[in-house]
Amino acid sequence: MNILVINGSPRTLGSCDRLVSSLLQTFTKEDGIKILKPFEMNITPCNACGYCKAADGCSKKDMEDFFAYYGQADVVIVASPVYNYSMPAPMKALFDRFQRYYEAAERGEKPFTRPKTAVLIVTAGCDGRIGFEVIKKQVEGGLQNMNTKLTASALISGTDGRQLNEADYAKVRELARYL
Ligand SMILES: Cc1cc2nc3c(=O)[nH]c(=O)nc-3n(C[C@H](O)[C@H](O)[C@H](O)COP(=O)(O)O)c2cc1C
Repeated sequence: MNILVINGSPRTLGSCDRLVSSLLQTFTKEDGIKILKPFEMNITPCNACGYCKAADGCSKKDMEDFFAYYGQADVVIVASPVYNYSMPAPMKALFDRFQRYYEAAERGEKPFTRPKTAVLIVTAGCDGRIGFEVIKKQVEGGLQNMNTKLTASALISGTDGRQLNEADYAKVRELARYL
């Protein structure tokens, strides 16, 4: 099984990193794992140029490697901190670049022959429930035109005032049941 992780946090060993690592422990050595961090990808934002409305593809070519990994994935794990009730800007830029698949779906095209299931981990420094709902919508909507079904999600809140605990890790590992 090929697992693609999209981790929207800029932090090494932050809460998203630690929770993703815990979830990845539920897979076997035979599974292929690729971890991509939008903060390290220098993603050109969508500027509504209209290319994908008129034809298949995108005028910007900086995400071809990403889409190649995406095409090979069976499972997608998305992790994101809440930043101002949303996902961090580089991750938002990534999801905006999925617009080409919205336009492809409008034309009746079905990209990514390999079906995928996805789960979502959201961390928040405070309560985070509004941000969680926003990010869930963004992820579900962005991936639905990419032959990907978001099957479960978990919010881990209050991270700025405490350490992650075993209940947090257990909640996230539980997501493996939905993949
Ligand atoms: C720019 C910025 C904006 C943030 N906005 C929110 C917010 O709106 N709500 C919230 O609960 N936490 C907010 N936080 C806190 C992060 O969601 C929290 O620290 C998160 O667990 C970080 O995850 P990470 O360690 O994986 O990077 C914000 C943090 C930053 C840096």
